[in-house]
Amino acid sequence: MSRVFKEQFPTEVVNGVKYTRVENIKAPHSPFINKNYDFEEGFYRGEFDFVSPIDGTLENSTPETYSRHKVIAALQDYIKDKEGETAILDLGAGTLDIARTIPASMASRINLVNSDISGPWSIGEEASTVRGIEKLRERGLLDNFASIENVEYDFNAAEWPFAEDAFDYVVTNLVLCHVAYESKLEVLKALFSILSPGGKVLIGDVFQKDESGVRFTEAGLRGPEECWGYLSVFTEFLEMCREAGFEIDGTALNNLNEGRNYQVQEELDYAKEHPHATMAINKAVWFIELHKGEG
Ligand SMILES: C[S@@+](CC[C@H](N)C(=O)[O-])C[C@H]1O[C@@H](n2cnc3c(N)ncnc32)[C@H](O)[C@@H]1O
Repeated sequence: MSRVFKEQFPTEVVNGVKYTRVENIKAPHSPFINKNYDFEEGFYRGEFDFVSPIDGTLENSTPETYSRHKVIAALQDYIKDKEGETAILDLGAGTLDIARTIPASMASRINLVNSDISGPWSIGEEASTVRGIEKLRERGLLDNFASIENVEYDFNAAEWPFAEDAFDYVVTNLVLCHVAYESKLEVLKALFSILSPGGKVLIGDVFQKDESGVRFTEAGLRGPEECWGYLSVFTEFLEMCREAGFEIDGTALNNLNEGRNYQVQEELDYAKEHPHATMAINKAVWFIELHKGEG
């Protein structure tokens, strides 16, 4: 496995797993800013029935869960036939739901790094990543991975820690919305730099809603009181992704060129059949892939 970090950071073994601590160099941002986004209906909570894109089972859960399933399904499609080891970063890994969903047959070829602001130094044993490791262990999944390690890192307050070309894939679900506005482009450029040529960032994320067009689901009827984070307008985010060096798919390009923050039925139908296509899950939540060219 190539080098994960661009420099040596302090580490500790916590509950049998290596943790790296990236110290803050500035005061943390509040993740709970309460900007009055226009969400009179259609946010990202509210359960609905869906067929999981991972394995076709019927699920009843939130658009946030659906986008996680989209990210995992896309990842699995990329790695199922890949030979050799694959290096994956889960940015904002929470309780390691993504790690817990990767099948054992694939995990044995994966070097996984889970990064989150919540870690043993700031939160102790209740940290989401610590609990995630426990859940993996309880289910007998922890030892399936070629390697697994965790990082406590706040992307709004610490220096970007990861080395160039360190990862083949980055997965990130409902996390980039926590990156402060002034850091979004910087973080996207950093994500570009840590990918090996041909690498991908698989994103589920929440954006400021647009009232037009169609979505996979209209579920989620909670209002602005739940709206924390730094939500981009979808097309403005796409513009930033391109500025950071990424390629986006034809659907996302159409969105960008037409200044459209929603999908038309044809795009949605296409996305339901194609695991890597940009897809609006509801009025606010999207799945999108960013590609780093081979060059
Ligand atoms: C909505 S949760 C998503 C968790 C996981 N990706 C999933 O799909 O279940 C958002 C995650 O982002 C993390 N997060 C929030 N602000 C962060 C920051 N400034 N730096 C790093 N991680 C952050 C939170 O701790 C939380 O685990």
